[in-house]
Amino acid sequence: MKELVAELILKSAKSLNLKLKKEEIITLIEIPPSAEMGDYAFPCFFLAGLLKMAPEEIAVEVRKNIKKIPEQFEDIQSQGAYVNFFLDRKEMAKSLILKILEEKENYGKTDIGKGKIIVVEFSSVNIAKPFGIGHLRSTIIGNSLSRISEFEGYKIIRMNYLGDWGTQFGKMILGYKKFGNARKLNSKNAIKHMLEIYIKANKKQYEEKARQEFQELEKGNKENLMLWKKFKEASLKNFEKIYRVLGIKFDVYSAESEYNDSLIAIIDELLKKKIIKESEGALIADLEEFGLSTAIIEKSDGATIYLTRDIAAAVDRFKKYHFEKMVYEVGQEQILHFRQLFKLLELLGYDWSKNCIHVSHGLYLDKDGKKFATRKGKTIFMEDVLDETMDLAKKEIKKRYPKISKIELEKRALKVAIAAIFYGDLKNNRSNNIMFDIKRFVSFEGDTGPYLQYSYARANSIIKKAKTNKRNISISDLDNKEIELIKKFSQFPEIAKKSFTQLNPSFIANYSYQLSKIFNEFYHECPVIGSEKEQFRLLLVASFQQILKNCLFLLGIEPLEKM
Ligand code: ARG
Repeated sequence: MKELVAELILKSAKSLNLKLKKEEIITLIEIPPSAEMGDYAFPCFFLAGLLKMAPEEIAVEVRKNIKKIPEQFEDIQSQGAYVNFFLDRKEMAKSLILKILEEKENYGKTDIGKGKIIVVEFSSVNIAKPFGIGHLRSTIIGNSLSRISEFEGYKIIRMNYLGDWGTQFGKMILGYKKFGNARKLNSKNAIKHMLEIYIKANKKQYEEKARQEFQELEKGNKENLMLWKKFKEASLKNFEKIYRVLGIKFDVYSAESEYNDSLIAIIDELLKKKIIKESEGALIADLEEFGLSTAIIEKSDGATIYLTRDIAAAVDRFKKYHFEKMVYEVGQEQILHFRQLFKLLELLGYDWSKNCIHVSHGLYLDKDGKKFATRKGKTIFMEDVLDETMDLAKKEIKKRYPKISKIELEKRALKVAIAAIFYGDLKNNRSNNIMFDIKRFVSFEGDTGPYLQYSYARANSIIKKAKTNKRNISISDLDNKEIELIKKFSQFPEIAKKSFTQLNPSFIANYSYQLSKIFNEFYHECPVIGSEKEQFRLLLVASFQQILKNCLFLLGIEPLEKM
């Protein structure tokens, strides 16, 4: 609808000899605070300078130049410095509901990205380390961003870039040789065993030895390579299981180790273009003039570097995918790393470096406001977090369905737990630090994932109660809550787009909550079953359900028919 308003203004502005873009107009259009001022308002203040006219006069002119009021509107008026648009609400309600119910999961979709590729790198866990809470944010946000971008018509390459190389493997290998146990490494507790080894070996006294082991690994030492492979296999098995449970898929598993062979060429090129120089035996790029300090490209002992591998990986990805955009969903701690990376790519002459984006996020905090990654000094495992959340979810579900079967309880609790954790994250602006408060996340009331699922289930049960399948869309008059709900429906496509352009799922998350809240208020104020307006209201309920389902999908959350 905003689009239509913008088109009307655009046409009118042309007669005033004003060159405005539709996108500009859309950003200017306001939603007035009260219904007497219409449903949309176009403020004319900012045109005053351009036209050398008073804003009030401009508003009158803009209105005059709209010759025919389209049927979707009841009226268009100039009021002071504004042009106000009054929708024909019944018409709008009718056409919108029909559109939602016809387009279903496609309601709100666009194809602006048709034929274009976006690489979304996310999760990017580290081999031989547990999938901890540290990589959860990237996993949740990256998954949602992939879905949101797909919704705008792009083809998405979901990429997991495994941290499977680096000096830490020297420590792992040394640790295994000293403290390892083959049986444990082959068991389903391999991850715990690897963590044990790592902790034991991560000590000052072993530093030099560990460095040598890594050097050996880089040289291709057979035993070290074999151990490294074992670590990788065991880790991947564990990660894949977690992704499966969380409902997360990747198109590509890439890995740091793939790029070791391309490093020489990259370093040559950096040298040739005089981007790096030798310094105390190491190779460095002085990026001081860009405010990016110094980047090490190769260590003095010849050890390869994370940053250099990232250069090689980016070049390779562009070759493979010709992406329109490449998104790296990685924590805030790596801001400098990615700035350096993008700058180096730019200096190398890769024009597409400007389409690389570091989408960063803040930390999870515990109740005391400290970084939440360990509990009493112990690493927190994703599996334990999930179990704990499921236990809480089970309690809530059992309160409502004391006789629920065990299998059904497990199934539902998992979906509720995922909703709780995902939504608990996504409702926040991703740059903020978040209190990781499972108890609050899992509550069925308030601004939570389970509350959304609950609202969805409620809509479902209302529809189930209806005696007939006949739906008549004839509308007598609209109650205030009905209008509020319908207006909210109409905002969804815009919200989805905004989440995409700002790469921020919180807009959709917050919208889902507001939508559900209005729906629940509507349900309290406007009886559905047995009312005169039953058929029309059932259509409203169905529309709500569809839009909420679309939102949940974009957040990576599954709806529940029953809660
Ligand atoms: N594995 C890294 C870590 O856990 C994150 C990788 C981010 N992606 C990248 N292309 N550097 O810190």
